[in-house]
Amino acid sequence: MSTEKIIANTISFVKEKIDSDSSGHDWWHTYRVWINAKNIMEGESVDFFVVELAALLHDIADYKLNNNDMTLSDKIVTAWLKRQSVEQKTIKRVCCIINEINFRGANVKTALSSLEAKIVQDADRLDAIGAIGIARAFSFGGYFKQKLYDPDKKPNLHNSFEEYKKRETTGINHFYEKLLLLKDLMNTDKAKHIAIERHQYMKSFLERFFQEIKGEK
Ligand code: ADP
Ligand code: NI
Repeated sequence: MSTEKIIANTISFVKEKIDSDSSGHDWWHTYRVWINAKNIMEGESVDFFVVELAALLHDIADYKLNNNDMTLSDKIVTAWLKRQSVEQKTIKRVCCIINEINFRGANVKTALSSLEAKIVQDADRLDAIGAIGIARAFSFGGYFKQKLYDPDKKPNLHNSFEEYKKRETTGINHFYEKLLLLKDLMNTDKAKHIAIERHQYMKSFLERFFQEIKGEK
């Protein structure tokens, strides 16, 4: 099968599997990550096929939406790519990227083992900031019954993935626990550049949010 055909089949597979999601992880999130990844990798010497497959499949079975199960994604991705006759070495690389790119807590250092992983992580993270990031954070919060804002709950810069995974937070706190940190965590120059304005937009939003909370505007 040609790589174009495998990509086209994978798009249909992902669309069907996650299209009804309402937590901010629907097909259009994946689509944007795929487009971001293609944009970032232009001109780089990376395996385009691996990047595209990892971008398209990265949220097929996200742990957050599957009772924190960190093993499901590997199983689904491997079974799917085997059916497409993708070689084992490529399947392993795609699964490895998907496992490496998750955010695991503000104080948890994570290592990425390839430029392909760095590109997919940046592509995913660009969709977690800016106007889209704001929309997704509250969509996610509603889906998981998180409060919008609670002045008695302070942000927690998590020291472990176990702690971060509990998601005992609010939509507003999530900005301080993750979203505002992403700008400085981008790996590639292209993503760093795009992140600047998106970051500023979130800061303006929060400034205005707190002015309204105080009844100032
Ligand atoms: P990652 O694996 O890095 O978390 P995802 O593609 O799964 O990346 O998307 C994360 C998205 O989910 C972010 O855009 C963020 O807004 C949202 N999210 C994750 N955790 C929370 C949370 N506790 N509260 C609000 N939004 C959250
Ligand atoms: Ni994602």
